[in-house]
Amino acid sequence: MTGGAGFIGSAFVRLVLEEQPDVSIVDYDALTYAGNLENLAGVDGTRHTFIKGDICDREAMLAAVPDGCDAIFNFAAESHVDRSIHSADEFLRTNVIGTQVLLDAARAKGVRRFVQISTDEVMGTLPDDSDDYFTEASPLQPNSPYAASKAAAEFVVRAAQETHGVDAVITRCGNNYGPRQFPEKLIPLMIANAMNDEPLPVYGDGRNVRDWIYVDDHCRAIWSAYENGRSGEAYNIGSRNEQENINVVKAILDALGKPHDLIKYVTDRLGHDRRYAIDPAKVETELGWKPQTTWENGLAATIKWYQENQSWVNHIRSGEYKEYYKAMYGTALG
Ligand code: NAD
Ligand code: DAU
Repeated sequence: MTGGAGFIGSAFVRLVLEEQPDVSIVDYDALTYAGNLENLAGVDGTRHTFIKGDICDREAMLAAVPDGCDAIFNFAAESHVDRSIHSADEFLRTNVIGTQVLLDAARAKGVRRFVQISTDEVMGTLPDDSDDYFTEASPLQPNSPYAASKAAAEFVVRAAQETHGVDAVITRCGNNYGPRQFPEKLIPLMIANAMNDEPLPVYGDGRNVRDWIYVDDHCRAIWSAYENGRSGEAYNIGSRNEQENINVVKAILDALGKPHDLIKYVTDRLGHDRRYAIDPAKVETELGWKPQTTWENGLAATIKWYQENQSWVNHIRSGEYKEYYKAMYGTALG
């Protein structure tokens, strides 16, 4: 796998090692600002090998794929929409070129199956208060540079399949939340700011809708797609859990016993997608997958994890992160 030191990748490592006793993982990750070896603390080193490397480094990537490797899971990506608005270069490099390099390595090593971790954002946005949902038949209409790079990655996967016969499945999940998510994304940013009595910056009118899923449920769906998905198919993954941003933020403040006047409405994100909502019927019926975590339990567990791991948060919130925050929000963190 690639990207196993990030938020979802590290959750996938833990889950697979726990639930699949015969599986060993080679975890290839560049350790960018989002990659963090602390995310892998306590992981069983006998079945998990970490290699630091860039997915775009053709030679190193090829050398990292072990002989007899059954599958490659591609989690590595630049993943934050706001950063892609500021500069798209790294997004195109890692998310598109990197995926092509990895596909070439998979072919060269005769890997049986390629699993591309994509996103619902490739399908663009849905109108407010409609009965529309993203399905596997929805057209790809990405709106942010991040989403465009992930859509392009899907196309290079498709091309490898059609041209070279690579066996590949694509998963498209909605917004994940859970432990170890980098505090640039909505939920961990709001938890970290609330814990530190800092203002909570809400974009626009706060009524954009996201379809939230607990990270372990996403990881189980990826595993099902690997085991039972049909080659050439995409699978949309979601928990039928649409929430307006402002309600998410208020729920976090309430859980932490903090006042709502910490909320600060700020200038909207450019090209801000209004609503994501996934129809997960295909993954439910074809793969027999169902989410196991309710929104209430998942959010409570997530908040508890951040409360109990303030040193993890504090390591990130020093140094480079402070500069990012000031440039992004125009105010300094205390
Ligand atoms: P993340 O930003 O937390 O982690 C990304 C990981 O990729 C990091 O460990 C980083 O070091 C690594 N990486 C980045 N560039 C690399 C490169 N050039 N070479 C090797 N490794 C590199 O991201 P995440 O939220 O865990 O997302 C993982 C994947 O899931 C991404 O592909 C993302 O597009 C997709 N996804 C995320 C969400 C979400 O809500 N976070 C939802 C759907 C899909
Ligand atoms: O839908 C899946 C996608 O979800 C993934 O592919 C991306 O990798 C992941 O970052 C996420 O993208 P979003 O842009 O939806 O997530 P983010 O956490 O950045 O923002 C969620 C919503 O909250 C969005 O409507 C913007 C808003 N927001 C975000 C931040 C960081 C705020 O109002 N204030 C903020 O400070």
